Amino acid sequence: MKVAVLASGRGSNLQAMIAEWQEGTLPVEFVGVGSNNLDAMALTIAEKAGIPVRAFPRDNYNDKSEQETDILNWLEDIGTELLILAGYMLVLSPRFVRTAEYPIVNIHPALLPSFPGLHAQKQALDYGVKVSGCTVHYVDEGMDSGPIILQETVPVFDEDDEETLSARILKKEHIIYPEAIRLLANGKVKRDGRRVIIQRDS
Ligand code: GAR
Repeated sequence: MKVAVLASGRGSNLQAMIAEWQEGTLPVEFVGVGSNNLDAMALTIAEKAGIPVRAFPRDNYNDKSEQETDILNWLEDIGTELLILAGYMLVLSPRFVRTAEYPIVNIHPALLPSFPGLHAQKQALDYGVKVSGCTVHYVDEGMDSGPIILQETVPVFDEDDEETLSARILKKEHIIYPEAIRLLANGKVKRDGRRVIIQRDS
């Protein structure tokens, strides 16, 4: 499966996927890593792994729509069969999602449908939940509202702040995101409306 990744920053989820791919446990071909941010660590991580990279800085375009068109054309040119958002901090427009002929997946640092959008870990702390976690989901035209593929939980402790909770969640992200990609690449993920059925080997 030819996968492309969009990332805006640090790239630790991308790094976790690349590590499994290098170990031979993630049966995908990384056809490109793109970013809206020229300085994204994710681009450096990809280059080191020999994956083609492209930057789409907003300043190069008259508007967001032009930027998205360029990204869509690039994704098509490189033969994308699955688009992975890994800390991509721009919201894809409904037009982008409708135009893409491949599935798009995202990871979100909360147990959706709770705490969509920005600062999910802070939202969870402010609300006072005792359990949080992360969610891998399909991207639809809404905000973090697509069908859920995998989730993992973490406890929230009284002494947590945004940093400690984020770090605990991130460790789980690095496990479930590669796992979700592996399941998708192996054809083990079926959609039934909003429900996503995972076929596990017995
Ligand atoms: C991750 O925690 C991811 O869940 C979050 O950004 C971080 C990216 O880290 N994504 C979102 O909040 C999307 N709404 P990374 O660049 O180290 O993978």
